[in-house]
Amino acid sequence: MQVIVAKDYDELSRWAAEAVAAQILEKPDSVLGLATGGTPLGMYRELKRMHQEGKLDLARVKTFNLDEYIGLPADHPESYHHYMQENFFRHVNLPADQAHVPDGTAGDLAVECQRYEEMIQAAGSIDLQVLGIGANGHIGFNEPGTEFGAVTHVLSLDPRTIKANARFFGSEDQVPRQAISMGIKTIMKSRKIILLASGTDKAEAIMRTVTGPVTVDMPASILQLHPNVTLLVDKAAAAFLKLDGGQMSVNC
Ligand code: F6R
Repeated sequence: MQVIVAKDYDELSRWAAEAVAAQILEKPDSVLGLATGGTPLGMYRELKRMHQEGKLDLARVKTFNLDEYIGLPADHPESYHHYMQENFFRHVNLPADQAHVPDGTAGDLAVECQRYEEMIQAAGSIDLQVLGIGANGHIGFNEPGTEFGAVTHVLSLDPRTIKANARFFGSEDQVPRQAISMGIKTIMKSRKIILLASGTDKAEAIMRTVTGPVTVDMPASILQLHPNVTLLVDKAAAAFLKLDGGQMSVNC
């Protein structure tokens, strides 16, 4: 696991976008795993800029988002379908039928989970997965306690996640209680992973991800067992790490 510390959120966002762009340059038909939430917004802004400057071609790329709230239709302003459309998809040349987000309104959610997982595997699984992290250590919506062997599944949001995401909905009451998420096993099959974290409220989770025991109580700690993970964090999120010149390599 490699940890790279950016001086601030803008630098972190630029580096994240450069990692995605490098992946696409190396393999134009890359399969990308994508995250939503506040943290990757700067990365999507940078990617949009690169595309507008003619430096990024997504014509052959396929994308799979990590998660979606259950019960929110695609046009709901807080659905992850809508987030992706507004912040990324509609600004770039990614063909609509190559961009995938789980359907949180599916009549049969178990069938939807299976369909989504099979689509990812049929695409050859993910080349580069972009992750955020919850203050409680969740990746995707795999909350503390989720078994590491899970593939795409339905789960209940942790009270801490509901509280954190209330900022997008106006109040905690309006935050959906359940979501569909890629499982930890799905995420761990990705060939390369970058995890982005910004701000002091992520510092403890980052420290436990890097140096703590691998435990379902801190889902991101499983990343210690993946062969190709880079944590891109800003100084605030790195506050509890002992770093050597802004970089840290941990042999797990
Ligand atoms: C979003 C996702 C979540 C977020 C995490 C951090 O698709 O999978 O794991 O990455 O909740 O969210 P922010 O970036 O809003 O702090």
